[in-house]
Amino acid sequence: MLSAESAGIIRATLPVIGASLDTITARFYTTMFAEHPELLDGMFNRGNQASGEQRRALAGSIAAFATALLERPDERPDRLLTRIAHKHTAVGVTDDQYVIVHKYLFGAIADVLGEAVTPEVAAAWDEVYWLMAGALIALEARIYARAGAEDGSTWRRWRVVERRQETADVVSFLLRPAGDGPVPPARPGQYVSVRVRMPDGTHQLRQYTLSGGERDGLRKITVKRVLGGDAPDGEVSTLLHTGVRAGDELTLSAPFGDVALEDGDAPLVLVSAGIGCTPIAAMLEHLAATGSTRRVLLLHADRSPEGHPLRRDMERLADGLPSARRIFWYEDGARGDSRPGRLSLSDVEIPPGAVVYLCGPLPFMREARSQLLGAGVAARDIHYEVFGPDLWLGHAA
Ligand SMILES: Cc1cc2nc3c(=O)[nH]c(=O)nc-3n(C[C@H](O)[C@H](O)[C@H](O)COP(=O)(O)OP(=O)(O)OC[C@H]3O[C@@H](n4cnc5c(N)ncnc54)[C@H](O)[C@@H]3O)c2cc1C
Ligand code: HEM
Repeated sequence: MLSAESAGIIRATLPVIGASLDTITARFYTTMFAEHPELLDGMFNRGNQASGEQRRALAGSIAAFATALLERPDERPDRLLTRIAHKHTAVGVTDDQYVIVHKYLFGAIADVLGEAVTPEVAAAWDEVYWLMAGALIALEARIYARAGAEDGSTWRRWRVVERRQETADVVSFLLRPAGDGPVPPARPGQYVSVRVRMPDGTHQLRQYTLSGGERDGLRKITVKRVLGGDAPDGEVSTLLHTGVRAGDELTLSAPFGDVALEDGDAPLVLVSAGIGCTPIAAMLEHLAATGSTRRVLLLHADRSPEGHPLRRDMERLADGLPSARRIFWYEDGARGDSRPGRLSLSDVEIPPGAVVYLCGPLPFMREARSQLLGAGVAARDIHYEVFGPDLWLGHAA
């Protein structure tokens, strides 16, 4: 909990620090990477740095944490912290690195705000930083311990046993452990980091959701090739598409992620669009494998049936469940039992008391979430996964 003295200073300075956080975090990353270039080799995602999204997620999370401390001093904003802690463990963040981040973040605050940062102001924000860091370090230690990796290293080699073309721009890789030793269990909906060496010699990590395979002791990831248009093409997805074949090996982290299917009896509404179907496919596979009798409403939106990744798996799995119903929307027109256009819940009955898992592009999730709230689903029952830095974090805290 924040001391009373610091709380007053944070309240008074939050507007000015909040307004400058984007400049502060930009300066923070520039100075930190200049002196610690190793953090850009196998840890930070340089695509997210180029787009500025990681910077906005970091700034948003600090502002949200400070606001939460002021508004609800006795409560820890666990939803916010858990999301970050899972991402941190997936990229291998260690306790000692919080000292490095602190040094450059507070250097950037002093540089950008100049004399406005009196020693009292610096001390109050220091308290916020270490409260947040302490909470994250504790959560991360628990998550690493569950993954059997107290030292923070969860990397293992996996062999590609099959490469499957799902659609024109999506491939799945079925993976088997390349060595011995226990494979940490995955919960349906979780993701791994894939660590690859790029042509310039540096390593890059990207997260891919486990889309199935668990039952056979295998792992499956399903990767959409990201084309840049005017911007550069996505570097890791392109490398996986063009350079990885059956028989090759990949380096994967243990599974992480807080958006995972919880056991229970409540009806489920599983909602996805595009490549956002990967966690949903894993959840369906788990429900099928455990003989679940839960009521399931499966909703998916895509451009066309041909472009809908894992469509046949989703159909087969949903049709095999005793109490599941599925509705697919295709923008280029209905075929068979699907519907034309975009997802619309106006005439879809959402089961009372349903728990929702949602994944897809942010504009789709915003629209789906507002329709679900309109249909009476409680905000706390809508769990969502963002395939990138979570720019919603501040609002979900
Ligand atoms: C929890 C989670 C789960 C995920 N699950 C999946 C999954 O199951 N399947 C899947 O396919 N993906 C998934 N993703 C997304 C995946 O991690 C990658 O983000 C995706 O594959 C793109 O990576 P990339 O290296 O190909 O693109 P990047 O190189 O990271 O580029 C990303 C975007 O930034 C743009 N960009 C890059 N450099 C610049 C620049 N200099 N200037 C302007 N723009 C630039 C690119 O054009 C592109 O649009 C998931 C992400 C998360 C966080
Ligand atoms: C209190 C301190 C910190 C805060 C508030 C913080 C906050 C965040 C946030 C909000 C995200 C984005 C989560 C998401 O995907 O939605 C993130 C990701 C990340 N953080 Fe931190 N972080 C902190 C400390 C650290 C430290 C010490 C390191 C290690 C040097 C680190 C490395 C990373 C990396 C590598 C990512 C993923 C970035 C990417 O893939 O683009 N963070 N952090």
